[in-house]
Order: sequence, then structure tokens, then C-alpha cells
Amino acid sequence: MPGAVKLGFSPFAMPGRGVLIVFCGEALVLGAAARRTLAGARDLVARAAKAERFNGKSGSSLDIVAPAGLNVARLVVIGVGKADDLAAKDFAKLGGTAMGKMPASAGEATILAELPRGAMRPDQAAELALGVRLRAYRFDRYKTKRKDDDQASADKKIAIAVADVAAARKAFSSREAIGDGIVLARDLVNEPANVLYPEEFARRASALKRLGVAVDVLDVRAMKKLGMNALLGVGQGSRRDSRLVAMRWNGGRKGEAPVAFVGKGVCFDTGGISIKPAGGMEDMKGDMAGAACVVGLMHALAARKAKVNAVGVIGVVENMPDGNAQRPGDIVTSMSGQTIEIINTDAEGRLVLADALWYTAKRFKPKFMVNLATLTGAIIVALGHEHAGMFSNDDKLSDRLAKCGLATDERVWRMPLAAEYDKLIDSKFADVKNTGGRWAGAITAAQFLQRFVSDETPWAHLDIAGTGFDSRQTETNKSWGSGWGVLLLNRLVADYYER
Ligand code: BES
Ligand code: MN
Ligand code: ZN
Repeated sequence: MPGAVKLGFSPFAMPGRGVLIVFCGEALVLGAAARRTLAGARDLVARAAKAERFNGKSGSSLDIVAPAGLNVARLVVIGVGKADDLAAKDFAKLGGTAMGKMPASAGEATILAELPRGAMRPDQAAELALGVRLRAYRFDRYKTKRKDDDQASADKKIAIAVADVAAARKAFSSREAIGDGIVLARDLVNEPANVLYPEEFARRASALKRLGVAVDVLDVRAMKKLGMNALLGVGQGSRRDSRLVAMRWNGGRKGEAPVAFVGKGVCFDTGGISIKPAGGMEDMKGDMAGAACVVGLMHALAARKAKVNAVGVIGVVENMPDGNAQRPGDIVTSMSGQTIEIINTDAEGRLVLADALWYTAKRFKPKFMVNLATLTGAIIVALGHEHAGMFSNDDKLSDRLAKCGLATDERVWRMPLAAEYDKLIDSKFADVKNTGGRWAGAITAAQFLQRFVSDETPWAHLDIAGTGFDSRQTETNKSWGSGWGVLLLNRLVADYYER
């Protein structure tokens, strides 16, 4: 694979070439290994720091090309500020920063996993490595033209120098699984819709079988039999058939109720007959970011052999205008039995989820359900790209999600549900209609979903329209498709539901 990083751990030692990256605290305090490594270049850092007014503050860095007295091609010093204040998530950020400091022309780097007070702990070094991996991600499989000297498109070798190689490797193994899950989710979101249509999506989800995940793919016939007409109505204008994929990872106690994750997988959303304007419509290849997160999460859980029973369910469709497409005014009967009047065919995600949620609850009787969906433009108006909108019928579940959001920096913000909003989606002709009018668009969408979830099942809906793609650029994400949610939900499982 071009542009991949080869990541490894090595013992502390002076590297003979490439880029050397070290961390330093305020007032330029370096750790012992860094001091030893830089012994050949006395005063170099101090002099360069003075010239650059570098002081080791968090977020600052110092870049020295061809450092006199050292064999490496470049020395980068990254400030960590007050090292004692670093939280767990900051180490991944540091790894991202370090990777970002590696110039495109460089093929090799050594990162000294050390703070001023001493070597990073194995878990901290492993977080650092995860950050490197996530920052190094590139989606360049459709770029055919490369410059000969562009090392950016060749393999890069990154060595993370640690005190205890075996311990760091061990700590990294679960993070490697999580990183793979995030990368998988990003790849799915970035993939164009001519390549990633529902059947292909189902095939890629089926690849999780290799990790011991049981995967069922329901085709149109199977879904018709179950009465999933809300989901099927969305896909009926497409040449590509719809699919529903159920993935099960049984790492927990036998017979224990699973946790469940449900994703919106609209491989492309034209809006259907209520067609969207042309500007920016290409972004709607990412309208399956919820489903991508669920697949990435199931990958992470299985690959790290999480001690939990988990199911992932994704409804995968393409929303197209066509002679056979669904019309505004059509009424469909969902799997739940409730009838839905279609007001706007562009409010399609909730129709897919209505049947996917009902199916998940009925078939798996989960402990809780969390669904993810790029559901409304309105949530971007409300929260921008910093938080996903969270709607829930359960305080315990939503508190846990909020906590995990802060710990992973994939933050969620709880939004209200209430009977007054619910009234807005009462239909003149059917039980419910699929839009609620101009105001509170993210909330009426959530109210719609809630009509397909029983009060007995703790449930949270995450509206990731602002975070799933074209989202916040961070030290660990420069990708259009962010893979948002894998880290958050993996954390939720790890902190509260693993035995
Ligand atoms: N997939 C869109 C929501 C979306 C918009 C996600 C922009 C990411 C970026 C969704 O299917 C949609 O079209 N929602 C409509 C609902 C409306 C018709 C009630 C919207 O938000 O405008
Ligand atoms: Mn839509
Ligand atoms: Zn959509």
C-alpha cells in the first residue's frame, strides 16, 4: 500500500539518519535520554531556541535542519508545556504533532518517547504511536501521478524509541486494533459512491468474518419479508439494491444481552425526487459515515478481542431520483407496523434507521442501542463541527457517552426530546410524517427515530452530520472522512460494558 507508515518500537539509542523528534518541557527541560542523545551537539538546542524564541510551550516546536554534531538530517523539538498536566488523550495528539513535523521529503524518523521527568509509560508511548498512525493516514488510492522524489507517497519508517520495547508493544496491540478500525471507517467514508454502493459496502463489512465476527447480509427479498418498507422505499429509485448488514461479536458471557450500534448507510444521498442543489452534492458520498463508524467499531472490538457481546447493524441504501423512486406523499408501512407519510424524500436517513432500529431491538434485545447518522444539516447549524448532537431516552447512557466524549475528544452535546416536538411529526394521513417543518430540524428528526424505539430500551442517537466528514482538522485527523465515533464508542464499551 503506498503512503503507508511502518511503525515500530525500538530501544533508546542515537539514530544515525532521518529525522529525530524529541519532546521538551517549559524552560527547555529535556529528559535524560534526550540529553544523552543530543550530547554531541552541545548548546545547539539552547542556541536555536533563543534564535527562534522557542520555550517548550505546548503546541510550539523547533525545527533544526542538518544539526551540527548529530548524524541525523533534522532535529525537531516539540514543546509539551507542563508535562504533568498531560492527559491520556494528549499523547495521541503529541504523536500526531510529531508525525506532522515530518517533512514530505523524509523517509525515516525516530521519536523519543520521553518527557522531561523520564520515559513515557508503555500506555503513553502506545497512545503516541496511535496518534502517529492516525496522522499518517492518507486516502490516495486514486492518485496515479507521483513525483519521483516525493517520499510522501512512499513508505515511511517511524521508530518510537521507548524504555521498554516489549511493554510498549503489548500496550500498543489493543490500540493498533482501534487504529485499524478508525482507518477502516475513514476509508469507507472517503470512498466514492460509484465504488462503494450498498452491495460493495456489505462485502466490506463481511470481511470482518476473518476476525471472528458473524455477519448476516439481508438482501431486498429478505427485507421485504420482514416488512422493512421504510428502508426499502429509500432505495427503490436506485439501480443498486439495498442491503441490511448485522454483525455480531461475542466476546462476552454466553447468553448475556449485547450492546448494539446502528448506523445510517446512505451510500449516496441525492435527495431523491426532492433533489438537492448541485453545489457540494459530492459530499453526500459521505452520508454513510454512521454505518462506516459501526463497521470500524466492530473491527476494533473484534481485533482487540473485547470481552463484550456487541452487535452492529447498518442499513445500506442509495437515495436516487428515478422512474421508480419514492414520491412525496407516498405512505409506507414500516417493520414496526407504523405507517409513514413521506413529505420530503431527502429526509431519508430516518426512514432507513426506523427499520434498522426496530429490527435490532426485536432480533437482539440489546442492553442499549446507540445509533449514528449524518442525519440533518440542522445539527451543523446548532453545533458546528465540534460536537455531535446527542438525543437520548436514558440519562445513564447519555452521561456515559458525554464522559467518554471528553476523554476521547470526540465530544457530544445533549439536545432535548419532548412531546411538543413530537407533535410536529404527526401526519394528516398516516401515523407519522418524515419531516417536522422549518424549526428544530435536528430534534424532529430525533423524535421520528424515537417513535421506533421502545421506552424500555436505553437508546441514544448521535447526529454526526457535522463530525463524520468534512469535519474538524486535528493533530490526529487530516482526512475528509474522520472515522468519528470509533474511538468514542470503543471507549464506552471498554469503560462500562466489558467483563
Ligand atoms: N444527509 C442529509 C443531512 C446532511 C446534510 C448531512 C449536510 C451532512 C451534511 C440528510 O439526509 C438530509 O438531507 N436532511 C435534510 C432533512 C430535511 C429534508 C428535513 C436536511 O438536513 O436538510
Ligand atoms: Mn437526505
Ligand atoms: Zn442523508
